[in-house]
Amino acid sequence: MNKVFKVGLIGCGHIAETYFRGHKYFNNFKIVKCADINMSSAKSCAETYNIEAVTVDEMFKDKEIEIILNLTIPKAHYEIANKSLDSGKHTYSEKPIAVNFEDGKKLLNKARGKKLYLGCAPDTFLGGGIQKTRELIDSKLIGDIKLGNAIFAYPGLQSYHPNPEPHFESPGGGPVIDMGPYYFTTLVNLLGPAKQVQGRCIKVLEEREIGTGSKKGKKFKVNCPTTYLATIQFENETIIQITLSFDVVIHQRNHIELYGTKGSIIVPDPNMFGGSCFVSESPEGQWNEHKTDKLELGKINITNQSSRANESSTNANYRGVGLSEMAYCVQKQKEHRCSGELALHVLDIIDSTMKASQTGVPQEIKTTCKKPKFFSDAEVRILLNS
Ligand SMILES: NC(=O)c1ccc[n+]([C@@H]2O[C@H](COP(=O)([O-])OP(=O)(O)OC[C@H]3O[C@@H](n4cnc5c(N)ncnc54)[C@H](O)[C@@H]3O)[C@@H](O)[C@H]2O)c1
Repeated sequence: MNKVFKVGLIGCGHIAETYFRGHKYFNNFKIVKCADINMSSAKSCAETYNIEAVTVDEMFKDKEIEIILNLTIPKAHYEIANKSLDSGKHTYSEKPIAVNFEDGKKLLNKARGKKLYLGCAPDTFLGGGIQKTRELIDSKLIGDIKLGNAIFAYPGLQSYHPNPEPHFESPGGGPVIDMGPYYFTTLVNLLGPAKQVQGRCIKVLEEREIGTGSKKGKKFKVNCPTTYLATIQFENETIIQITLSFDVVIHQRNHIELYGTKGSIIVPDPNMFGGSCFVSESPEGQWNEHKTDKLELGKINITNQSSRANESSTNANYRGVGLSEMAYCVQKQKEHRCSGELALHVLDIIDSTMKASQTGVPQEIKTTCKKPKFFSDAEVRILLNS
């Protein structure tokens, strides 16, 4: 029987509901209290889920809470995680671990010094789609991978987000910070750590118009690059070309394609848990589908191309598995997969991609990390409610 960890949630916004659903899926954590800088959000969350609302400071002092789940906005991730570690609690944050590399590094050092677990989303790479890909790649079905490309491109979130301005500001805005974590974490999981990046970027539109909510029709200025084209070199010498863009009306490319010495693989959406991989071992182009829908975390809830997620929040969205796996590792004193070390390396790639593209000067990645271990269905089942 797994120990059930008592979790305190800070940041009762949009994504919180997905984590509460984790109670239905996972057997080893329970969100027992919630807090928010905005007390009315905390109260309404507490009422919905029949738990207790406390202030942020009370949460840190609360002896009952063993893990802090940090679902605040990216700008607040460092402050909340730092206080959480100071109060002696294991900490799991939404992505990214911090908005700048130095803060991320401080968190990792603090966690190590205090022998506390520090975890970070995304955990989508633990889903059936990316794990199936990992299994196929590790089996050498397509030989040695040395090349590939990746894309996340869509018109931007101003059409459907009522407050899109922060996503177009500097620092903090742009597609690399927003979507890079999913792509970079998946690539590191499949290929190992990265060592160098070069790139270019562009701001296509000087202003945008809000398409929904109370500010509908309002124009705002774009203050950051909105498209990045970068080339990342991995420690194993693989070169991946990646496009991250808020400037593409529509396209028809795959999220990630990797090219091996014996064939090619199409990797499913790294922002999702499920999705088939397709492998071809012949130049004639016959693609074999490797389905994931029978895998524990492999059900599909999205069918579109490489654009913004249109997932159904109530179907096969297993966000929280990274937290569950971390809690299990706390209990068993093992290394967890969604680790601070991995998240810091991903933040390093994010920072370096933006810097290299904005200055035109190639950047060496300063950190490295271990490739997370393959996550088998048998290991997933240990965490699942039957
Ligand atoms: N919304 C999504 O679909 C989605 C998906 C995956 C990941 N995420 C990540 O989840 C995190 C939260 O996103 P969201 O969409 O839920 O944002 P949100 O703005 O809806 O909610 C964030 C909440 O945090 C609170 N908050 C902000 N600063 C705080 C502070 N210093 N102390 C306490 N509370 C504070 C806000 O009041 C708000 O209630 C982000 O890191 C985001 O990248 C979001």
